[in-house]
Amino acid sequence: MILSILTDKIGTLSIYSILFSILSVHLPKQNLRKMAQETIITLENITKTYEMGDEIIHALKSVSLSIDQNEYVALMGPSGSGKSTLMNILGCLDSPTSGTYILNQIDVSSMSDSELAEVRNKQIGFVFQTFNLLPRLSALDNVALPLVYAGFSKEVRQQKAIQALEKVGLTDRMMHKPNELSGGQRQRVAIARALVNDPAIILADEPTGNLDTKTSVEIMSIFERIHDAGNTIIVVTHEPDIADHAHRIIRLRDGVVESSYVNEKIVRADDPNHHYKIKGV
Ligand SMILES: Nc1ncnc2c1ncn2[C@@H]1O[C@H](COP(=O)(O)OP(=O)(O)OP(=O)(O)O)[C@@H](O)[C@H]1O
Ligand SMILES: [Mg+2]
Repeated sequence: MILSILTDKIGTLSIYSILFSILSVHLPKQNLRKMAQETIITLENITKTYEMGDEIIHALKSVSLSIDQNEYVALMGPSGSGKSTLMNILGCLDSPTSGTYILNQIDVSSMSDSELAEVRNKQIGFVFQTFNLLPRLSALDNVALPLVYAGFSKEVRQQKAIQALEKVGLTDRMMHKPNELSGGQRQRVAIARALVNDPAIILADEPTGNLDTKTSVEIMSIFERIHDAGNTIIVVTHEPDIADHAHRIIRLRDGVVESSYVNEKIVRADDPNHHYKIKGV
């Protein structure tokens, strides 16, 4: 009744904007902050072109997408579709040619290389197909390496590296060099290294590409634990079995997002009915 009288007097739009302001004032500040923080990655019309002599390669044509905190996304698509290019931009290893990239509410699209490096060290952990470990360093020293740039003392570096190696179940191999470890163990060292700075986002480009099926499942179970602990995970993969673990699947084709959909049938690596286990793993 009161609403209809007011609506007559000052118009529907105005009454809703007044109601909205009253509600906003009474919403707890923390909730507002939480709502505002939910999206961790926003890309708007991102392009990336490479110049090769006379040829211009449009690796990303116009990519717009957003990813929420604690999402678990698989990025798929044919070879050359732009997955690694997109991961490099997401991970602040490279800048887009044009477009806007908001990471954790900060516009990183036109940052300098040194500013990008700082954001990268704090917010992002990388895992690569080829592990990218330093051959002369032990597992422990490989994991502790990113902390050198963060300026921690040697004692704190070792402590944090041991904690990260515990998370991937590898403390018994921490004095081994990479060539004294199996492929799966090397990838676990690389994951520990990605985790050691406590980044919000883990980016993995074909993390199981060099591993057998059994070891791939072990690695996926580690990603699940990291995701359960609150991290945002983005995994590039060609393998549908690996993408099945993600909660959302984004497909790229020819430098654009072809589709993005929720995975209705998430497979858990620790599920007793896991299809790999049926094969005798
Ligand atoms: N540094 C570069 N210079 C020139 N062209 C590049 C460069 N990096 C990538 N490209 C080109 O950009 C396109 C996208 O490459 P990208 O590596 O992102 O594909 P991808 O989806 O990761 O493929 P794959 O599945 O084979 O790893 C390809 O045509 C590639 O040849
Ligand atoms: Mg690639």
